[in-house]
Amino acid sequence: MRGFFISVEGSDGSGKSTQIKKIEAYLKSKNQEILLTREPGGTVISEKIRELLLDPGNKEMTVRAEMLLYAAARAQHLEEFILPNLYQGRNVLTDRFTDSSIAYQGFGRELGDVVAEVNHIATGGICPDITFFLDLAPDAGIARKKAEIDHAMDRLELEKKEFHQRVYSGYLALCDLHGQRICRIDASRDIDSVFAEIQAGLDRLFGF
Ligand code: TMP
Repeated sequence: MRGFFISVEGSDGSGKSTQIKKIEAYLKSKNQEILLTREPGGTVISEKIRELLLDPGNKEMTVRAEMLLYAAARAQHLEEFILPNLYQGRNVLTDRFTDSSIAYQGFGRELGDVVAEVNHIATGGICPDITFFLDLAPDAGIARKKAEIDHAMDRLELEKKEFHQRVYSGYLALCDLHGQRICRIDASRDIDSVFAEIQAGLDRLFGF
């Protein structure tokens, strides 16, 4: 049987990393194999593309080049890592997937529908079985990131407030469009309350 494909989405600073560790621990406690991966990244080639994308020095990068690089990293990640593992029955959890491109490049960069088209080419339309969207107002998220000790802000995080506001509105539009797949979770609450809702979604998916 094919494994489950799970994604976690959210604005920068929404607490994804903490919740992903809790998901891993929970599924392991239920004797489920779970592989963690991330986008952009997850393979050697995709991690090289990540470096290009996040380097604050790459100020000349055009928004279309940015969109295509995210899609290229995703195509490689999907074919080399995600699909082979799913077909071998392993569950895969990715920190971000296509929804990020729709929110950041489609809405944030205002590229619109072309982002979904390009991503259809990159993924063949494959999407997660369930997506947890950690909903946190962008101001709060960026403030959390800035407060992190030793955190160097990347090229996207350094974008202005209006950009992050558009990204957030993109996520809300995706929630309306894919209400069946995306669980919208209020991430302004404490870690355990946020996780309780995620756990309910996992229990439904896995039939625990
Ligand atoms: P991370 O900080 O969650 O690892 O994500 C890296 C940055 O890349 C984050 O600011 C969101 C951005 N991003 C996009 O703009 N488009 C995408 O398709 C993905 C996967 C990430």
